[in-house]
Parts: sequence; structure tokens; C-alpha cells
Amino acid sequence: MPAKPRRLFLALWPDAGERAQLAALARTLSGGGRKVHPDNLHLTLTFLGATADERLFCYEQALCGLAVPPFTLRLDRLAYWSRSGILWLGASRVPPELSSLVQDLNRRLESCGFSPERRPFQAHITLVRDFTGPAPPAELEQPVVWRTAQVALAESLQTGRGVRYAVLARWPRL
Ligand code: 2AM
Repeated sequence: MPAKPRRLFLALWPDAGERAQLAALARTLSGGGRKVHPDNLHLTLTFLGATADERLFCYEQALCGLAVPPFTLRLDRLAYWSRSGILWLGASRVPPELSSLVQDLNRRLESCGFSPERRPFQAHITLVRDFTGPAPPAELEQPVVWRTAQVALAESLQTGRGVRYAVLARWPRL
């Protein structure tokens, strides 16, 4: 019997120091909603969705040799999407390397039949779901600085304690 498709995404995955900064920021937020567990904080580059194993194999081949030029993300603004109820952290200046990386990933995945998201890429780290005010100040006094050089393949798992994300692979492999 074929294995059940897995719910996958490609993301920037914070290291322990960045994760601690993000978690510290999340702790300062007041208002209602469900805060994302610190272990789950990440920045999605491309959402792959339900993926069968053969397709995953193709993605892994397509991502072999991926080059990720190191770049610095200065996460300095909070914003709220009322439609999805998401309070998120983003950057007032998105480094061109990040946009190029997303394009490169989508191009590689297209060779496996992947259809990239049509909406423009919006770099964001979800901090709170089902957020209910008060809206925090948009500009952060102390931005989170994230130096990044790897892309992670993550799986979204339903557990008894809610969603958990597991990193399956990283590129480039160091
Ligand atoms: P979100 O935080 O804005 O909900 C795992 O679910 C990751 O994939 C999250 O970062 C989530 O973004 C993103 N995600 C989930 N469903 C998605 C979809 N249909 N399109 C794009 N990204 C999605």
C-alpha cells in the first residue's frame, strides 16, 4: 500500500539563538489567540502541501546542489492579517537574496510538476493564530536579526498536543 502523502513545506529554520529571540518577542505580546510554540517558529519559503513519496524523491533530487548565499534578515515589523487572524513578524526590507531563493526553489520544484503559489511571496513568521487585539506597535524597537544560509524541508505532523513540525532535510548539506 502506498504511504500516506505527507504535508510538507520548505522554510528558513531558526537556530537556537534566533529561536530564543523570536520566543522572547512572542512572550512580550499581549492579546488573545494561540501563540505558536517556540519549537514551531519558522519562515515558510514554499508550501508543498500533501506530497507522495515519489514526488518527495523528485524534490530531493531537484534540490541537490542548491546554493543558498548567506544573507541577513532584519525582522523589524509586526503585522496582522484579519482574514486569517494571524499576527506575524516580517521585514520592512526583504533582502533580494531571499526573493531570488524562493524563485530558485520554485523553478527547481516545477521540474517535478509542482505548481508554485500564484500570490506574491510574503516573508512572514507566524507568531499568533486567531489573534485578538490590542494591535502591538508595528515597528519593533529591537529587531530580530537572523543570518541564514540553509533551507529546511519540514513536515507538519498532527499530534495529541497539536501540530508539530519536524525537519527532514536541509540544503545545502553542510
Ligand atoms: P502560516 O503560518 O501563514 O499559516 C506550515 O503549515 C507552514 O506552511 C506555515 O508557515 C503556514 O503558513 C504555511 N502554509 C500552510 N498552508 C499554506 C498554503 N495553503 N499556502 C501557503 N502556505 C501555507
